[in-house]
Amino acid sequence: MRPFLIPLPRDVRYTGGTSVLRDECPVTVSDAPELPDEAYTLRIENGEVKIAASSEAGAFYARMTLEQIRAVCGGRCDDLVISDAPVLPYRGFLIDSCRHFYGTDELKRLIDAAARFKLNKFHWHLTDDQGWRIEIERYPLLTQVGAYRSNSRFGGVDEGTPHAGFFTKEQIGEIVAYCAERCIEVIPEIDMPGHFTAAVAAYPFLGCTGETVEPQQEEGIFPNVLCVGNDKAVSFVKDVLDEICELFPGRYIHIGGDETPRAHWRSCEKCTAEMNRLGLSDHDALQGVFIRGIASYLQQKGKTAITWNESLRGNCLSPQDVIVQRWMDRKKLCRDFAQAGGRLIESDFYHYYFDYPCGMTPLHKAFAFDPFRAQTPFGVEGALWTEYVRTFDDLCEKLFPRLFAVAERGWSGFPSRSGRDFRAAVLALLPTLQRLQIPTLPPSRWDPGAVARLRETKVFFKGVLTPELLRQARGL
Ligand code: ACM
Ligand code: ZN
Repeated sequence: MRPFLIPLPRDVRYTGGTSVLRDECPVTVSDAPELPDEAYTLRIENGEVKIAASSEAGAFYARMTLEQIRAVCGGRCDDLVISDAPVLPYRGFLIDSCRHFYGTDELKRLIDAAARFKLNKFHWHLTDDQGWRIEIERYPLLTQVGAYRSNSRFGGVDEGTPHAGFFTKEQIGEIVAYCAERCIEVIPEIDMPGHFTAAVAAYPFLGCTGETVEPQQEEGIFPNVLCVGNDKAVSFVKDVLDEICELFPGRYIHIGGDETPRAHWRSCEKCTAEMNRLGLSDHDALQGVFIRGIASYLQQKGKTAITWNESLRGNCLSPQDVIVQRWMDRKKLCRDFAQAGGRLIESDFYHYYFDYPCGMTPLHKAFAFDPFRAQTPFGVEGALWTEYVRTFDDLCEKLFPRLFAVAERGWSGFPSRSGRDFRAAVLALLPTLQRLQIPTLPPSRWDPGAVARLRETKVFFKGVLTPELLRQARGL
């Protein structure tokens, strides 16, 4: 039998025989220094398996491919030689632990599944308006106050119960180690200067007004941003990042930079004085300079900052400063950044945001997206925000199998194969998700027809597009 695999390998050559893959069949692994990082060859002949790679990651991916072959072929497969390597070095998935919090056991299930499809970056969204989810020793109120909200009313649904939770340093270490064993780098996101209400709730001096606030209970974009004109507030951020850098051994730290309302900066003496001191003409530049400063601080610690595309608006960031993650933008800014040699991570809202129902972003639409259309990106990433995710099952059903589309683009490029063949591969690999206790929607709901799509999208937005949210979006 010839296996369906996800992502599609670069080259598969069938050599004529058939092998029975017993559980105890010999697997030999040899060093192949000529192969690039993450690349491998996998040879199955006469019931023997031979792997060659130059890195731990390459050998790991060969094993993941072998596991898929076993799962799909049930132990008997055509002899073959696979020569494989990824197209992109960054193949990520984002989990938002702030809006709805799930613990380490659930995360490990997601990480296990992602690793099997050769994703290699876990972007962990750990701070936001609705919750601060990581222990910081120097500032204990971040979790004592910022990790708790008394209710949740996302999409107009009153949950009527408090929501709380955060990861201790020990748990963070546990997840980092779990990922490392699966060749996944963890990229923490400490979102700033916007999406900062939970931090301001813990330490009111961080905001421009000094007022006392609570973590937010609804979705949206909120005014309680970091006061970037206050040296003490900026030092706070650096202290937090010092602890973050110690906890996360990877190269990248995400520093947010999205959806930052300007209202408080406009009326803040400190922020206005900072703008005058720097000779800046607008608040986009104020954000750009702030992000550049934080990125430079991280650079001195051997880290590279990633920021959402909004931070490009002030024209303050050069390709040496940051990596930019594109989700929704004024296209020219990202294009110019890339043309100047900047690295982009492609997370297009309309294709790679999996918090929206399949009616809005069907599997085939996610798969049809070409992240290479303007330029070759540095990476691709699928995002799972959790405002509207109230159970872990729902989270899984939203993320899978649509995340496979991202895994395939990042590893195999575009185009790789027809949507029909891709869907057949997804169906063949569904038992793998089931074994990992990852529930999915029934396949009939992955690609709804036009009427069902309209209905699903309407139902979803009925609760979501509140007048308040539209007002906030207009005010950005
Ligand atoms: C984002 O969705 N605000 C990055
Ligand atoms: Zn201020």
